Amino acid sequence: MYRRSFLAASASLVSLAPGFSALAAVPKPWDGKSTPPLNNAEAFLKWGVETRGEDPKYLRMRWARFTAVVANKDATDDRNKRAFLMTPREHFVLDRNLSRAYEHAFLDIGFGVTISGPHIVSRMTQVIDVKEGDKVLEIGTGSGYQGAYLAYLTDKVWTVEIIKPLAERTRATYDKLIGEGYTEFKGVQSKNADGYYGWEEAGPFDKIIVTCGIDHIPPPLLQQLKVGGVMVIPVGPPGAQRVLKVTKEKGPDGEIKVTRSDIYGGRIVPFVPFTKLEGDTIKGTHNK
Ligand SMILES: C[S@@+](CC[C@H](N)C(=O)[O-])C[C@H]1O[C@@H](n2cnc3c(N)ncnc32)[C@H](O)[C@@H]1O
Repeated sequence: MYRRSFLAASASLVSLAPGFSALAAVPKPWDGKSTPPLNNAEAFLKWGVETRGEDPKYLRMRWARFTAVVANKDATDDRNKRAFLMTPREHFVLDRNLSRAYEHAFLDIGFGVTISGPHIVSRMTQVIDVKEGDKVLEIGTGSGYQGAYLAYLTDKVWTVEIIKPLAERTRATYDKLIGEGYTEFKGVQSKNADGYYGWEEAGPFDKIIVTCGIDHIPPPLLQQLKVGGVMVIPVGPPGAQRVLKVTKEKGPDGEIKVTRSDIYGGRIVPFVPFTKLEGDTIKGTHNK
């Protein structure tokens, strides 16, 4: 959509890598290791244009939000910072919100749900501290932004979305981006289902991230979390959740111990409700 116009805009900014073509959107696939410059805006911009074929307009917006995310300590380690800088959020918002893609706020993505704001995505991702090779389950695929972000931390991501047309639309977004050269998104497996029950066949998981709010921790998710695993989940009454870090450990006596801590020290953060599927129809929520 904007790739052609950005070529003209960027031509004066940097010289394009040899072999760069308007049709081969990502000049070379990501190798899973390389990292954009984390400390210099111009170097980042040049890197983004040359290696990712991205639009300098969005790269600038991404950098500006990145500096705010880092200042706020939402992303604290370099791998998480890299993931933020590599994830093209502009591909996961509605066209009418393109100019707002990197705003602090969550944004409407249709179907009555939202793409979470960039700060909370970074903070929740930081909390689960995804290591290379970790198996990560996301509940609430939504726009696909969080799943894409996770793809820069591990190549084993599973994501579940309850709204069928949204799950299909986001799968199509991933597939289109894979076709354009974002081959890292091949690491994201997705399905349309009620995420209350997790994804048993793919589990157990090292990390679980839940992006919709519920008044309790779903037992199937706790069960599919490995011993030593970490989950982050918004828990509380409708519209007034607290974001919890949940760990599952084996004590010296062999007993499984579950701990909970509030990642925002008690701050209330409203999330889209964790809804419930009855047959093929979404009916109410899983709240008790
Ligand atoms: C805040 S939104 C999306 C955030 C998303 N991670 C992103 O990056 O855009 C939460 C999502 O959870 C989904 N959801 C709600 N209840 C669900 C359930 N039981 N199973 C799976 N997804 C659910 C909603 O449909 C919505 O798309």
